[in-house]
Amino acid sequence: MNPIYEKLMQCQRSLRGLTDFQPRMALVLGTGLGNFADGIRVVQTVEYSDIVGFPVSTVEGHRGRYVFGYIDAVPVVVMQGRVHYYEGYEMADVVLPIRLMKCMGAEILMATNASGGIRESFRAGDLMLISDHIASFVPSPLRGANLDELGPRFPDMTEAYDPALRAIIRAAAVKENIPLQEGVYLQLPGPQFETPAEIRMARALGADAVGMSTACEVIAARHMGMRVCGISCVSNLAAGMTGGPLLHEEVQQNADLAAPRFQALVRKSIAAIAKSI
Ligand code: HPA
Repeated sequence: MNPIYEKLMQCQRSLRGLTDFQPRMALVLGTGLGNFADGIRVVQTVEYSDIVGFPVSTVEGHRGRYVFGYIDAVPVVVMQGRVHYYEGYEMADVVLPIRLMKCMGAEILMATNASGGIRESFRAGDLMLISDHIASFVPSPLRGANLDELGPRFPDMTEAYDPALRAIIRAAAVKENIPLQEGVYLQLPGPQFETPAEIRMARALGADAVGMSTACEVIAARHMGMRVCGISCVSNLAAGMTGGPLLHEEVQQNADLAAPRFQALVRKSIAAIAKSI
């Protein structure tokens, strides 16, 4: 058996030994949304480190656990903490947690993150609905023998971010009076922040926001046929746009400041998506 698939099955067996919860939706919490799970009707939590074979994050501030529970009436699995490529994992390990949530039953993925704003009109604290991504600067999580059990060799990425889900999220934002931008997310490998020249390159390529996660997860989710949506919190303007240096602490602080709006949008969007399925 393919070792990547074997590891996924090992994780599934291990997790199924800990919970029989059946989520319909999967949610990945990015920087600033770490406390979101406090607002979920929690049924069970499972530490990543308790799942045999699971890649465990090393970054400070990234707690690592699945939270199983309900948002409104929707059974959800929430990733509180993700693993990043820059930590040294292979892409197949970075996306294993996403694949595992699909194996548990989740058909829809909502990915969230913090990003640097590239579009000139963006301000720190803006929320951006992800309309599309650029993943060309990081290795594909699908590289290597195709896992036919999961999906096709050449999966379509034309509408990676589901148009119907995006419409629902836009409508939820309007209803809740939460300003919402929309744009293209660029994943770079990190962990260093970009240079101003790289940001000018990214802008020329059509990116509106830049970060170090998400696109690879979306590729793996689409490969498995999940419907996907994503929301980014523009926690800072990208390098060279303000004259000052970029500091991780500042990124974290700005994301925390935007958190109440971000959480409200995510909660209302999930409730609205649940009504539509
Ligand atoms: N660049 C890359 N990743 C980020 C940034 C940024 O400016 N802000 C938050 N995540």
